[in-house]
Amino acid sequence: MPPHVLIFPLSMQGPVNCMLKLAELLCLSGISVTVLNTDHIQRSLIRHTDVLSRFSCYHNFRFETISDGLPDDHPRSSELFLEILEGFRTVTEPVFREMMVSGCFSSKSAFPVTVIIPDGSFSFALDVAEEIEIPLIYFETVSPCALWTYLCLPNLIKAGEVPFNSNDLDVPIQSVPGTETFLRRRDLPSFYRCDDLANPAMHILMNQARHVPRAHGLIINTFETLDASILVHMRNLCPNIYSIGPLHTLLKSRLTIAPQSSVSNSLLEENRTCLTWLDTQLEKSVVYVSIGSMATMTVDQFFEIWHGLVNSGQPFLWVKRPGSIVGEYDDDEVSKHLMYETKERGFMAEWVPQEEVLAHSAIGVFLTHSGWNSTMESIVEGVPMICWPHNVDQQVNSRFVSEVWKIGIDIKDTCDRFIIEKAVKDVIHLRKNELIQSVKMLGEYGALSVAEGGSSYMNLNKLVEDIKSMGI
Ligand code: UDX
Repeated sequence: MPPHVLIFPLSMQGPVNCMLKLAELLCLSGISVTVLNTDHIQRSLIRHTDVLSRFSCYHNFRFETISDGLPDDHPRSSELFLEILEGFRTVTEPVFREMMVSGCFSSKSAFPVTVIIPDGSFSFALDVAEEIEIPLIYFETVSPCALWTYLCLPNLIKAGEVPFNSNDLDVPIQSVPGTETFLRRRDLPSFYRCDDLANPAMHILMNQARHVPRAHGLIINTFETLDASILVHMRNLCPNIYSIGPLHTLLKSRLTIAPQSSVSNSLLEENRTCLTWLDTQLEKSVVYVSIGSMATMTVDQFFEIWHGLVNSGQPFLWVKRPGSIVGEYDDDEVSKHLMYETKERGFMAEWVPQEEVLAHSAIGVFLTHSGWNSTMESIVEGVPMICWPHNVDQQVNSRFVSEVWKIGIDIKDTCDRFIIEKAVKDVIHLRKNELIQSVKMLGEYGALSVAEGGSSYMNLNKLVEDIKSMGI
C-alpha cells in the first residue's frame, strides 16, 4: 500500500501552524498527506490566507474536514475550553472513529490511511489506531519541557505534589526528573493549580501520560541541543522520539523555490505595514508584544502593560488580536486613548507576520505569552524574551527561558507597570549583551540542527523512511 499519512491537528492557531509545516515537509519527501481540520479552522484558512493556494501546488496533498461539534458563531476562546472539549468528545471523536473504521480513510476506501499523526492530546486516536491496527505517531505541539511534566503527572500525584491550590506557589517540585533544582509549583502547567483531580483538563493530561508512550513514536518541535536535559529522561518512556525543530527553519531549508522569509499559516489576515514602520526604528530598540492566538487579558492588564511600555521609553509593536481583551470596556475609548498617547512610539496591529517581525533588525525584545511556537521563533531569530505566561505549557516554557536557557526574564503571575518597565529596560540596556549572546548561540545551534547532517535534518529523514516502511 502506498504510504498515506493523516495529520489531525488540535483546532488552534499554534498547533495548526506547525502541523501544516510537517504536512508540507512530508509532501516534499514524496509522501501523500491528508490534513483533517475542523470545519471552523478550514473556514478561517479559506477566508483569511493564501495557505490553500500554497498547498494546491502539492499533487500529493489534500484537506478533509470534520465538525468540532460547536455552532458556527461560538467564540472558541480559551475561557470556553470546557465547551470546546465537550464538542470534541460528543461529536468529533465518534465521527473520526467512523471515518477510520469504515469511512473515507478506512482500508475499504479507495486510498486508505497507513499512518495517523494526531495532536498529542488526542488519546482517542490511539484507541482507534489500535482497533484497526495501523501505526500512530503523536505530534506534540506543546514544548518538550511541558510534555515531560505531563508524562510525570502520575508520579507527581503519587508524591502528593499535584494538585495544589494557588498558595505557596514557590514550593519546589521534586518529581520531574532533570528539573529538581529550578522547577516550582508556579512553573507547572496551569491545569495543575486546582483543588482536586476530577477536572476535565487533568483527565486529558492523565490520558495523555498513559497514551503517548504506547504510540509508535513521538514527533516534537525542538532540536537536540536545546532540550537535551529533558530528552534524555523522556526517551526512557518514549524511545522513538523524532525531534525535528525548529520546524519552520527546517521547512524553509527544504523548499526548492527561492528561500521564503516566512512560511506562515496564519488564520487571520496579516497587517504587513508594521514591517515598513519597523524599517523606521533603531536597531534592537522595539518591544514586540503578542499573546498568541488564544490567550486573553483584562482591560486593566492591558493598560498596566501599555503604561509599562510607554514608561520604558522604548518603541513597541503590539498585536491587539480581536477578542484578546475580555470583560466590560468600550473599545472605541481604548482605541482613542491609545491613538492619542501612543503617537509614533507605538504601532498597534490586529495580527502580523510574526516570523518576519521577529527577524527584523529593529526588534530588541519579545514580550510574549510563551506559547511554544512563539518561543521557538524568537530563539531562531536571536530575540530575548520577557515572558508573561497564561496557560497550557506556557508556565513551564517561561521558567526554561529564564533559568535553563537564560535568554529572557520571567514575570509570571504579575502584571504591573513598574515590573514591565524594569523588565524592558533590563533586556534592552542592562542585560542586553548577556541575553543576546545566549539566545543567538541557541539560534545558531538550531540552524545547525536543520542543516545537512544536523540532528533535526537526520531525524526528519528517519521519520520519512519509517513512514514509507509502515506503508508496505
Ligand atoms: C497554543 C498554546 O497556547 C501554546 O501554549 C502551545 O505551545 C501551542 O498551542 P498559541 O497560543 O497560538 O498556541 O501560541 P504559539 O504556540 O506561540 O503560536 C502562535 C502562532 O501564531 C505563532 O506561530 C506565531 O508566529 C503566530 N502569530 C502570532 C502570527 O503569525 N501573527 C501574530 O500576530 C501573532
